[in-house]
This record gives sequence, structure tokens and C-alpha cells, in this order.
Amino acid sequence: MIPPTHRQIRLAARPTGYPRDDDFRIVESPVPEPGSGEFLVRVVYLSLDPYMRGRMSDARSYVPPVAVGDVMEGGIVGEVVRSSHPGFAVGDVVEGRLGWQEYALSSGKGVRRIDPALAPISTALGVLGMPGLTAYFGLLDVGQPKAGETVVVSAASGAVGGLVGQIAKLKGCRAVGLAGTDAKARYLTEELGYDAGINYRTAPNLDAALQATCPGGIDVYFDNVGGRITEAVSRHVNMFARFAVCGLISQYNLTEPELAPRNERFVLVNRVRIQGFLVFDFAARYKEGLARLAEWLRQGRLRYREDIVEGLERAPGALTDLLQGRNFGKMLVRVGPDPVVAHGATGRAS
Ligand SMILES: NC(=O)c1ccc[n+]([C@@H]2O[C@H](COP(=O)([O-])OP(=O)(O)OC[C@H]3O[C@@H](n4cnc5c(N)ncnc54)[C@H](OP(=O)(O)O)[C@@H]3O)[C@@H](O)[C@H]2O)c1
Repeated sequence: MIPPTHRQIRLAARPTGYPRDDDFRIVESPVPEPGSGEFLVRVVYLSLDPYMRGRMSDARSYVPPVAVGDVMEGGIVGEVVRSSHPGFAVGDVVEGRLGWQEYALSSGKGVRRIDPALAPISTALGVLGMPGLTAYFGLLDVGQPKAGETVVVSAASGAVGGLVGQIAKLKGCRAVGLAGTDAKARYLTEELGYDAGINYRTAPNLDAALQATCPGGIDVYFDNVGGRITEAVSRHVNMFARFAVCGLISQYNLTEPELAPRNERFVLVNRVRIQGFLVFDFAARYKEGLARLAEWLRQGRLRYREDIVEGLERAPGALTDLLQGRNFGKMLVRVGPDPVVAHGATGRAS
């Protein structure tokens, strides 16, 4: 039963510092009717991701921001409920960037069909989606780890970082993760197979903790956070170390950028390669990445964790939680009932 109207979350104002509830507005809008070549999707899961903070700002970036008044941008998994499109049928489960709303119209551009038999459909926003591909290509292509090397990962328990450490282990590396609570640091070693986990918030001395957990030095740093953690890591690098710069979450909500890392000498004397990347750089190879991730998942060699909040109206608060480290695992909003779980076809992995 499709209702006549649905809820959307629109950007109301550009935030200063961390986003606040009044930077968003919930709007009731008519559910659109698909024209020829279009289909209507009922949103089941909305992905919340750190990049959304960037889309709320008009600072120059790699894509234009969301305009004030527009529906917030976001990846979703949903179910096709009406279709006038030859390639998508009612009942198909799809993933695409269709925004913070309960129903969305699509022409099919940038939308892919999900196989619900493969894994819970929410994984299309996590291990079998953008975060998984980021971990896979960022570590293997940018970081270029070799067996026996030490890989350090920041935001290591999150959607991307949780997978980076596991892939590093699959490649025969030593993996050390930094995370913001004791429970997260324990999860790294007890559940994900990291060799060591450091709570960077409570470690009395980050240098001593890195020294103790990386006695042979650091060869690859998968940087999700930037700032003072990156500066500490830089003091422990080996010759020809590689920094795969994936994200700078410690900086996204600052009104003045932090002046770190300040010790560029480490780049010169150790001939370090620092390379930023965006997952889109590897778009031509997504099929390869997803196939490999799905194979590892099927073999039980990759674990993941989801942090799901209920109801579209909770998305703004959940985004701020994510930006402040209050999530534990891939942050999702359940916008409506999961059609696959509802039919009892699959359970939730962890
Ligand atoms: N380059 C790309 O194409 C690409 C694609 C996807 C994601 N990313 C980036 O990858 C990073 C991780 O994204 P994700 O989706 O996997 O998020 P996530 O790790 O699931 O969640 C974000 C985590 O960042 C940590 N964090 C927040 N503030 C921090 C601070 N001030 N200092 C240190 N850590 C902080 C928190 O964990 P703790 O409790 O451990 O601090 C929080 O749980 C982000 O920087 C994101 O922008 C880049």
C-alpha cells in the first residue's frame, strides 16, 4: 500500500561545527508517480556516512554541496514498488544514491540491483558497497601492503576501518587499529583478528602505544582521521612507508583546521609516499572488488557490524553521533521494513 505522501529530510542551513537538528527540516511531500523510463523505490535502509558533513558545507570539494532546501544526499537500499522502466521490476531490491526520504523516483542512473540471496540487503551499503570498496582498493591499490608488513588503521572499528584490518590480515600483514573506546579496541582483536587495538582517547602516551604494538615500525598507514593521530603515526614509519589517505574525520567539524601533522621531515628522510584517494577513482573495477568481497564474506573470512537506528526522523541525530564516534559499526537508518528479513529469507550477520 503506497501512501499519498511521504517524509523527506531537507538541508535547512549550513552547519557551523557539528550539525544540529535545526540544520535539517522534515518535510511531508507527495509520493511521485513514475513516468516512462522511471521507477519508484520504497527506501528500506539509509546509509549515514562521514562525507555527508562535506555535502552540507559550501567549502570547495570534489563534488558540489547539497543546496539549502534540497533533500539530503545519501545512499539507500530499497524495494521497487512501481515501475515504468524496462530494466527494473516491482519487487527488485536496489541500491543507489536516492537521498534521505521514504520514497524516491529513479531513472536507473547509478542504481544497481541487489541479490538478496547473497547477504542481508543492508550489506549493499557496507561490506558489499561503498565502504567495502573503499577498504579494498584503498588498502590494496593505494597502500600496497606486502606479507609481513605492519598496517596501521585509524577509525579501525568503523565501516571502512573494520574491513581494512581484516583484508590486511588476509594478505599476511600485521594489523594494528586505533579506535575511540575500550569496547571498540577489544572488538578489533577479539572479533576482527587485528593483532592489537589501541584506544587513542585513553592511551596515556600514543607514541608508547604505537611503539609497543608496532615494534618493527609501520609500513602502511590507512588514514581515516588525519590530525594528531596521523602525526603520531608518522613518528613510527619505516623506510618507503605508504600512507593511504582515505578520510580526515577529525577535521570535518572544526571551524579552524588543526595544524597537524607538523613534522614533514618524516616524509623526506623515510621516502614516504602519501596518496589521497576517492573510491570513485576505482569505479571501473567495482565489479572485481565486489566479487572478491562477496567471496571472502561467503567464506566467513570477513566480519562486519552494523549500528542501526529506527526511523527516518532519527537520521540527523545519528549523523552527529557518527561524526562524534558514538556509532559502533556501519551506521544505518531503517526507514521502513526490510522485505527480505520480513519474509524470513535471511538473518543478520555480525
Ligand atoms: N576516500 C573515500 O572514497 C572514502 C569513502 C568512504 C569513507 N571515507 C572516509 O573514511 C573514514 C571512515 O568512514 P566510515 O564510513 O568507515 O565511518 P566509521 O569509521 O564507521 O565512523 C566514523 C568513525 O570515525 C571516528 N572518529 C570520529 N571523530 C574522530 C576524531 N576526532 N578523531 C579520530 N576518530 C574519529 C569514530 O570512531 P572512534 O570511536 O574510533 O573514534 C567514528 O565511529 C571517514 O574519514 C570517511 O570520510 C572515505
